[in-house]
Amino acid sequence: MKEEMLNLIKEIKRTVKLYNEIGMLPPISSRREEKVLEEKFLEKINSLDELKKYLDGCKKCKLYKNRKNIVFGEGNPDAELVFVGEAPGREEDIEGRPFVGEAGRLLTRIIKAMGLERRDVYICNVVKCRPPRNRDPEIDEIKACLPFLKTQLRIISPKVICTLGRIAAQALIGRDFKITQQRGRWYSYKDIPVMPTFHPAYLLRNPSQKKYVWEDMKKIMEKLGLNEKNKEVD
Ligand code: URA
Ligand code: SF4
Repeated sequence: MKEEMLNLIKEIKRTVKLYNEIGMLPPISSRREEKVLEEKFLEKINSLDELKKYLDGCKKCKLYKNRKNIVFGEGNPDAELVFVGEAPGREEDIEGRPFVGEAGRLLTRIIKAMGLERRDVYICNVVKCRPPRNRDPEIDEIKACLPFLKTQLRIISPKVICTLGRIAAQALIGRDFKITQQRGRWYSYKDIPVMPTFHPAYLLRNPSQKKYVWEDMKKIMEKLGLNEKNKEVD
């Protein structure tokens, strides 16, 4: 990995030098080229620890300005089930861990009701830094951070992905996804089954919707062969 990185850097330096010699701006100054280079680089990363190191100090989008901590994600690196939320909130930003606030406590209860523990699954978000005042992440922020989530999913290669709320579903299923009409059905992301459900923060405001999330979790349990003795969250 290190050697590949050094080769890549050498290759970039060579290209920049070449372009300078002919009096042109090197292609590395274009966003597209940067994106391609990053994609190439991310493709070579094969562990969550390596990816986490790569993200250290990230300033790829404006969310870096107000964050206290990057919230990379946590859990079992070989998880069969990955939960994908939207973005860290206040408590997550302070602790540097996903879903540790009130919505997180509800997610933990949902996971337990499925007969699992947080350490059995993997939990992460579409964007890794907290948006100011918990506003929705903006499109440029999602675009900047999504390759990192995609790399996490490639490395973990779970059997099922559960997206929590609209933003995560739109990021992995499609921009037009409508959470109220379309949750609770199977979709797929790179051949991995995706179950979109409501966000736990939404359930805190609308407890009557919990039964739908439980229906969705039962579908996931069935797919994973988890037994049904577990009961609904209240
Ligand atoms: N909401 C999210 O979407 N993610 C978190 O990590 C916490 C709250
Ligand atoms: Fe980097 Fe993602 Fe944080 Fe933006 S949100 S600064 S892309 S880690």
